Amino acid sequence: MRQSSLVVVANRLPIDDSVAPDGACEWRRSPGGLVSALHPLLRQTPATWVGWAGGTGPAPVLPDVDGVHMRTVPLSADDLRDHYEGFANATLWPLYHDAVEQPEYHRRWWEAYQRVNQRFAEATAEAADPGAVVWVQDYHLQLVPGLLRELRPDLRIGFFLHVPFPPPELFMQLPRRAELLRGMLGADLIGFQRAQAAHNFAQLATKVLGLPATDRRIGVQDRVVRIGAYPVSIDTAEMAALAARPDVTARARRLRHDLGDPERVVLSLDRMDYTKGIEQRLKAYSELLASGDVKVRDTVLVQVAMPSRERVGQYQILRDRIEREVGRINGEFGRVGEPAIHYLTQPFDRAELAALYRVADVMAVTPLRDGMNLVAKEYVAARVDDTGALLLSEFAGAAAELDRAYLVNPHDLEGLKQGLLSALRAGPTDLGDRMRAMRHHLHRHDIRAWARSYLSALDDTGSLLTRLSSSG
Ligand code: G6P
Repeated sequence: MRQSSLVVVANRLPIDDSVAPDGACEWRRSPGGLVSALHPLLRQTPATWVGWAGGTGPAPVLPDVDGVHMRTVPLSADDLRDHYEGFANATLWPLYHDAVEQPEYHRRWWEAYQRVNQRFAEATAEAADPGAVVWVQDYHLQLVPGLLRELRPDLRIGFFLHVPFPPPELFMQLPRRAELLRGMLGADLIGFQRAQAAHNFAQLATKVLGLPATDRRIGVQDRVVRIGAYPVSIDTAEMAALAARPDVTARARRLRHDLGDPERVVLSLDRMDYTKGIEQRLKAYSELLASGDVKVRDTVLVQVAMPSRERVGQYQILRDRIEREVGRINGEFGRVGEPAIHYLTQPFDRAELAALYRVADVMAVTPLRDGMNLVAKEYVAARVDDTGALLLSEFAGAAAELDRAYLVNPHDLEGLKQGLLSALRAGPTDLGDRMRAMRHHLHRHDIRAWARSYLSALDDTGSLLTRLSSSG
C-alpha cells in the first residue's frame, strides 16, 4: 500500500470522467477549485487524494493525476441515497443554509453517514505515512477527523468546512448534534469561511459538550483544537489570463452579437439549488420588466442554472418551478427573436465561462445563503479591463471580502430591484474604482494564499509549507 505525507480527503475526487474521441471513458483533472489550490503542494509531496469517483458499485482504479495518487472510496446505491442524497444533502445542507428548505431527519440516513465516514477514515488511515498531514474537506465528512484520530493518533488532522456553519438555534435541531461536533473536534485545526461560523461552533462546543471554548481555541481533554476563518479563494491569475486570451475576447464579442447587441447584459450562473435565490431574482427581474425600468430591447438576462443533485426531491421541485417561471416571463415580456431571459442548463468549458464573464455588464450573484460563492470571485478576476458591476448578496461569504460590490439582501425584493438598477446605471468611473479594488484584493488573496495560510496554521512543524513556498 502506497503511503503519502499529505492526504486530502474530500467527498469527490478532483477529476471528471469524460468521453475520449475514441469513445472510451477517460479521466481528467477538474478545473479550478481545490485542485489548483493544492496543486503546487501536491506536486512536491508524495500526496494522495481520497474521494468518491461518482457512481455506485466497486470503486474504479484510477491513474495518478499530476503525480497525485487517487484513492477511490466506493459508494453502494444505498450509500448514495442515504449518505450523499440523504444525510449530506437533505439534512445537513438545508440546515446549514438557514433551513431555507426544511431539513429532514431519518435514522437510516444517520447510519449511512456513520458507515461512509468510517470507510473514508479507514482508507485515509491506510494512505497516510507516519506523522502525515491530513486535510479533510466539507460537510459530507464531519465524522472523519474523530474516527481517524482513533485509528491514527500520530496524524496531523485538519478539517475545513466549505459551507456555512449555522447558529446554535438551528444546529440544536440535529438529533445527533453531539456526535457531529465530536467528530469535527477530532481535528487539530477546524477552518471555516467566516469568523461568525467559528463563533457559532465555539458556542456549541460549550453548550452541547460543556467544553471550554473561545472563538480561537477549544479544550478537548488533553488537547487544544484551534478554530478560525480561512476564506477560500480562486486561482485569480489563471482566470485573468484566460479572460484576456484573444480567442476568449473574440468569443465574448460574438456572444454579445448573438444576444442582439444589447446595451446591457446581466449574467447569473448558479448550481440549480434553492440556496442560490434564483426564484427571488427572477421575481425582481420580472417586476422591473413589468414596470418598464428594464426593457427587453436594451437589456438581456442570461441565467445559467446547472442541474445538481437531481434525484433529491427538493431539487426536482425547484427546477420545475424555475422553468415554469422562466417560461412565464419569456411568454409575457419576450418578443420573437428577443427572449427576456436566455436560460441555459448545459455545462460550459472554462474558456466559454470566461467569455460569459467578459460579456456580462452586471453579474448577479444573490444567494439566500452561501459559504463563499466562487462565481462572484471568478467574475471579478475575469474583468481584466476593470469594467462591470457585481451585484452580490450580503449572505454570500464572498461579501465579507468583496465589499465594493453592490451588496443586497435577496429577501428584500425592493432592495434587490434597486440594487440591480444601480448596478445597471452606474458610471464607468465608479465601476472602475470598485472593480480595481476588488481585483487587487483577489490577487493578494488567491487560492494559493488560502492553502498556505491554512496549512501553515495546521502544520506547525512547517515541513510541508517549506515545499509549498519553494514551488512558488
Ligand atoms: C458545494 C459543496 C461542495 C460540493 C459542491 C457541488 O460547493 O461545498 O462540497 O462538491 O457544492 O455539489 P455536489 O453535490 O455536486 O458535489
